[in-house]
Amino acid sequence: MADKIEIRNLNLFYDKFHALKSVNMVVRDKNIIALIGPSGCGKSTLLRSINRMNDLIDGVRINGEVLLDGRDIYNSGLDIYKLRKRVGMVFQRPNSFAKSIFENVAFGLRVARLANKKKISEIVETSLRTAGLWDDLKDKLGTSALELPLYHQQRLCIARLLAVEPEVILMDEPCSTLDPIATMKIEEMMIELKKKFNIIIVTHNMQQAARVSDQCGYMLLGDMVEFNKTSEIFTNPRDKRTQDYITGRFG
Ligand SMILES: Nc1ncnc2c1ncn2[C@@H]1O[C@H](COP(=O)(O)OP(=O)(O)OP(=O)(O)O)[C@@H](O)[C@H]1O
Ligand SMILES: [Mg+2]
Repeated sequence: MADKIEIRNLNLFYDKFHALKSVNMVVRDKNIIALIGPSGCGKSTLLRSINRMNDLIDGVRINGEVLLDGRDIYNSGLDIYKLRKRVGMVFQRPNSFAKSIFENVAFGLRVARLANKKKISEIVETSLRTAGLWDDLKDKLGTSALELPLYHQQRLCIARLLAVEPEVILMDEPCSTLDPIATMKIEEMMIELKKKFNIIIVTHNMQQAARVSDQCGYMLLGDMVEFNKTSEIFTNPRDKRTQDYITGRFG
């Protein structure tokens, strides 16, 4: 069976600026991958290239391959809407919609024109349960999502993704606006989610990468310096540059 995601010699340019330099990375199924590295090294760019979010940016050129289940997402005629459903994204700040909690979670189902009300309610409940929100929110599903505290909104955005059953969830610093308790809850949820989904998380928090990920990539100036099992990256880095970063000598 093909790996879930395989990135081969991926180069990305913002006009003349070479932001990703021949990046290679293999994601096996049902794993959490963490991408770490100093600010500006290309973590978000790499993450966005996995569901073609960079396509929206003027002047971007991409070459190389990003294979999802063995199929190149850039050159196989794969429909972008279907791709984004299979590979969903969670952002640094929750992008809740100005709609009710229920409609935020049901959003993708409405887009997909699912009409069965009972089915929609079931999926909304299951998604909120998986995101650890059901008990807190079940009595106020009609309230605007924007009234929720940020830590609930972030999990609500995750529930919205779960409702359309993605295969891969991309998270770009999902805990950077959260306190340690809310962060811990997201991390616990990630461990639960990985039974069913693949997760790729960008994080500035090295302890977080060490706690949650199975594999870890260290990036620097557009290069994937080292990609390996997380335990190896943190205890036995092969590259001097990785060692300097994880020991706090650099970055
Ligand atoms: N839309 C854009 N246009 C031009 N250059 C960009 C654009 N987005 C990012 N870059 C540049 O590409 C490089 C990588 O940026 P990216 O946002 O991927 O880094 P990052 O590792 O996610 O950084 P941070 O940790 O600060 O979020 C940086 O030098 C950045 O300035
Ligand atoms: Mg970033």
